[in-house]
Amino acid sequence: MGSAHTIQRGGTVTVTVPKVDLIDGAAMPQLGFGVFQVGDDEAERAVATALENGYRSIDTASAYGNEEGVGRALRASGLPRDELFVTTKLWNSEQGHDNALRACEASLSRLGLDRLDLYLIHWPMPGRGLYLETWRALEKLKADGRVRSIGVSNFTVEALRRVIDEADVVPAVNQIELHPYFQQDGLRAFHRDHGIHTEAWAPLGQGHGLLDDPALARIAEAHGRTPAQIVLRWHLDIGDIVIPKSVTPSRIAENIDVFGFELPRRRPPHRDPGIRHGSSRSVTFRAWGTSGGAGRVPAGCASRRCR
Ligand SMILES: NC(=O)c1ccc[n+]([C@@H]2O[C@H](COP(=O)([O-])OP(=O)(O)OC[C@H]3O[C@@H](n4cnc5c(N)ncnc54)[C@H](OP(=O)(O)O)[C@@H]3O)[C@@H](O)[C@H]2O)c1
Repeated sequence: MGSAHTIQRGGTVTVTVPKVDLIDGAAMPQLGFGVFQVGDDEAERAVATALENGYRSIDTASAYGNEEGVGRALRASGLPRDELFVTTKLWNSEQGHDNALRACEASLSRLGLDRLDLYLIHWPMPGRGLYLETWRALEKLKADGRVRSIGVSNFTVEALRRVIDEADVVPAVNQIELHPYFQQDGLRAFHRDHGIHTEAWAPLGQGHGLLDDPALARIAEAHGRTPAQIVLRWHLDIGDIVIPKSVTPSRIAENIDVFGFELPRRRPPHRDPGIRHGSSRSVTFRAWGTSGGAGRVPAGCASRRCR
């Protein structure tokens, strides 16, 4: 773990968000803000609220259609560029070497920026056979200073291995679906072994099901926190970069208020293999130490291998 940014919020509340050191030496806030499925004007409002609440890392994508709104909010905040960490992603139709170079310029122009902090290939699309030449274009953008760090999203072990074996730059992150119902242990272990940071999308399970889990409610009650805060704390404890999305001001504030408490640091008795659906759901929460009944508190993965 690297440095941290500390923000004075509302004149009284101080938020300190840790930063992780990426493999290329850049530092990225461990908790940021996502804007998937948010229209352009709503994204402007949500990002403005997020910045007021201390978020400094914003995750958008060319495919979200809201880079202009995000850019307006960034400019209106008056925050120095160096305090901000902006990620966007290259969409599937933008793959290919020259397409990718053009796509990055188009995203920069919509965001109103002259460089990105992190640029990701949104999906590998192995059937198209273009992700490697697309990655070469991202390497060029990095070398040219248009992008500070480059990474991928939704890449499998196979696709990652190919990039690592055949290209020059190791992806700084792989942004993948990850939450307590879908823990992706195998992929996370591969990331760990290759210096790639895991960034969790849908960290709250996109708001469905997970946040209504009765075991999670018991854990939240035991800590005097909300289910979303417990889930975000769990992500932070296992070392993920996490980018929860909300357009609701109270939730935007709630989701960054996760640094004032801890979950017990003990190894879970059994790890969840990554089950999304069906009756095994609550296995995840039993693994956090709730099987003995309400009031017991969860354990994030305490082992060094999980960090
Ligand atoms: N790389 C990819 O392929 C990919 C795919 C999906 C997402 N992402 C990125 O990851 C970010 C996060 O993922 P996501 O947006 O899919 O899902 P998410 O952050 O897991 O969940 C967002 C949903 O949870 C609700 N929510 C947020 N905070 C809450 C709280 N404290 N209590 C209760 N409900 C809460 C939101 O509702 P309201 O907004 O109504 O408050 C929204 O419906 C995205 O915004 C995007 O930047 C990337």
